[in-house]
Amino acid sequence: MPELELLVRQIRLEARNIHSYELVHPQGRALPGFEPGAHIDVQVADGLLRQYSLSNPPHERHRYVIGVLRDDSGRGGSSTLHQSWRVGQRVRVSEPRNLFALQPGARRSLLLAGGIGLTPLKSMAHRLHAQGADYELHYCARDADSVAFADELRGELDPARLHLHLDGGDPSRGLDIAALLARERGDGTHLYYCGPAGFMKACADASSDWAAGSVHFEHFKAPDKPVADAAPGDGFTLQIASSGRRLQVPPGRGIVEVLREAGIDIATSCEAGLCATCKTGYLQGEVEHQDCILGADEQRTHFTPCVSRPKGGLLVLDL
Ligand code: FES
Repeated sequence: MPELELLVRQIRLEARNIHSYELVHPQGRALPGFEPGAHIDVQVADGLLRQYSLSNPPHERHRYVIGVLRDDSGRGGSSTLHQSWRVGQRVRVSEPRNLFALQPGARRSLLLAGGIGLTPLKSMAHRLHAQGADYELHYCARDADSVAFADELRGELDPARLHLHLDGGDPSRGLDIAALLARERGDGTHLYYCGPAGFMKACADASSDWAAGSVHFEHFKAPDKPVADAAPGDGFTLQIASSGRRLQVPPGRGIVEVLREAGIDIATSCEAGLCATCKTGYLQGEVEHQDCILGADEQRTHFTPCVSRPKGGLLVLDL
């Protein structure tokens, strides 16, 4: 449950369908600090928890700023937030958490943002600018009306390091990601990217030959793939390693739900395979991984039960 109660101090229209929300402590106290790339869990409404990246300069302690694109075809978080949040309202959020951290000591940092994927990268750019580091921010958007935080970006970053790419809705007319990443690949350069599904795939494809550990990304929305939180076919069995207890997950039920009913509480947040809050170890069985956050090594021993499920009939959980 989000532990901070903050006040919505300001709401700004940043671009078409994009609002920024400035959240402050109701008594003006300093907020828990954060590193660039961090996000907060936001209680959008009762029972509706969503994650939003912090976009403001990370040295700021008096406020959190999130940018929210209204997506009426999404799961309802952003449209509810746009419709219901008002200036002066109290809202509940978690302390910042970072799954998309800048790597210290990088010779050069290349930041690629697609649409609202700008938000974590904007905070990174503020930090890199303040450090006098070598970086470039490429921000891809449809048109001038969909460029968020434009004045702030132009006013606070080195204009020579900020590159806007407007494609009019046709990615082939926008940034040539493959050419850029082929040009930029090199010793000590780290790549960070965040954006919609097509943009993420283009960045992943174009950076597949970059050195291990030099590519970092964050999905803000789960890519389109079958959601596997319900048990298919005949269901399956979970075994709790510490007790040997067995739980049957029938068709149509989720793992987290069945565990909770059995008194085993698995914390969840995004419930979309994006945040790793529900990450759980397993000792036996195979998993059909559906998350966007665990690396291949980690997937050999852990999975995200909010979206992933066993391939076979039995999964032994390290609980
Ligand atoms: S709750 Fe976020 S990955 Fe499962």
